[in-house]
Amino acid sequence: MSLLIKNGRIITATDDYFGDILIDGETIVAIGNAFDEGDLDPEQVIDATGKLVFPGGIDPHTHLAMPFMGAFSSDDYESGTLAALYGGTTTLIDYAIQSKGESLYSTLNTWKQKAEGKTYGDYSFHIAITDYNDDVRNELKDIIEKEGISSFKTFMAYKGSLMIDDRQMLDIMNEVKKFGGLIAVHATNGDMIDYLVNKYVSEKKLSPLYHYLSQPEITESEAAGRFIDLAFQSGVKAYVVHMTCEGAINKVRQATLRNQNLFIESCPQYLLLDASLYDKDFEGAKWVMSPPLREKKDQQALWSGIQQGLIQVIGTDHCPFMWKDKKKGEHDFTKIPNGAPGIEHRLELLYSEGVLKNRIDLNKFVEINSTNAAKIFGLFPQKGTIAPGSDADLVIFDPNKEHTISVDTHHHNCDYSAYEGWKVKGKTETVILRGQIAIKNGEINIEKGYGKFLKRKKPL
Ligand code: URP
Ligand code: ZN
Ligand code: ZN
Repeated sequence: MSLLIKNGRIITATDDYFGDILIDGETIVAIGNAFDEGDLDPEQVIDATGKLVFPGGIDPHTHLAMPFMGAFSSDDYESGTLAALYGGTTTLIDYAIQSKGESLYSTLNTWKQKAEGKTYGDYSFHIAITDYNDDVRNELKDIIEKEGISSFKTFMAYKGSLMIDDRQMLDIMNEVKKFGGLIAVHATNGDMIDYLVNKYVSEKKLSPLYHYLSQPEITESEAAGRFIDLAFQSGVKAYVVHMTCEGAINKVRQATLRNQNLFIESCPQYLLLDASLYDKDFEGAKWVMSPPLREKKDQQALWSGIQQGLIQVIGTDHCPFMWKDKKKGEHDFTKIPNGAPGIEHRLELLYSEGVLKNRIDLNKFVEINSTNAAKIFGLFPQKGTIAPGSDADLVIFDPNKEHTISVDTHHHNCDYSAYEGWKVKGKTETVILRGQIAIKNGEINIEKGYGKFLKRKKPL
């Protein structure tokens, strides 16, 4: 199929211009000015006058159909990729979590099976290594070079389940470095958190507020600093997921004084929501996530970190749970499954709260939503930009449309919204995925299963 998008304002990480985009099959074949429709004879034409055209969003931090803390995250690969598409995210990189005793190959196959045939959008996986041993070490080369999984996640917290120790971390780093891969981390100090959790439980302080109080800023800044130092020592490419606070950003700032391949991600919830939400008694469970929401001064530090180039990526850490599952922790915050929904709202929140409030410009918007993730996770230039030869993954965005985020209108399979009642200006209008018009006029136009697994290259 050929498709011509006319008169859009085309935004990439570096450019901002008016033009026409010609798509043939799955690929962008030409970009120009005032193409003559008669000459090109495209099968379909979209007039994007007055609209912004962005590369499809890439969310590199999601948890779909994940068993966690006695429940399953409530979006599976069908509903999760659909919600993502409605919000302008055409590709996501989900976490395949190794179970105890499982090989990395088995982990990958398990998670591929969950997704295969069910996705609307394109997807890949990072593998989270939670049970490291010699057999796992021996799998790393093939997983990176044959399977196209070039990033691995490690946890410095969730003591007793997902956490690994520093010795294991260093060995994983050294091995992954040999093959050009990247190590991502959930950087909070699992022992400090465990100590504080036990203290509050023994004092019968069991409301969601104590989830927040058991993960103070220093638990994150300490672990982020330690991880950054370990990564520097090993020379591996390193990525800290969901950074939330000033103390951790300052560790990154210090590291810029030396030459290190270090990348940082934050999430809309940490930029926009704050810890006062934990004062709402059990309703605070809606925002029980790890790390927890922080203070206003941390939001300021994160926005500055984006502007200063210390934070390169905004993912969502989309990990929704139904309220009935959150309620398992009604009398004990340690039983509240950690995570919140957000995959659909990333672009619209960042446009409305970021671009329109002059915290970021349009090029930075594209960088943090798409281009940097594509580069860091080995998808560029197939994904992450608008250029001849790239996949035709495009978002046609109405910069003037106002709407209100609500559980009544979102596409997440979750019975609450983390942003209920939040008013935004700017809306994803049309989404094109590999040349197919996927979302138009609020309707999905592609079949379930159209989304495909992406083998990734090594990080740039
Ligand atoms: O609370 C969160 N973030 N849940 C998902 C797992 C993780 O730590 O990323
Ligand atoms: Zn995490
Ligand atoms: Zn996560």
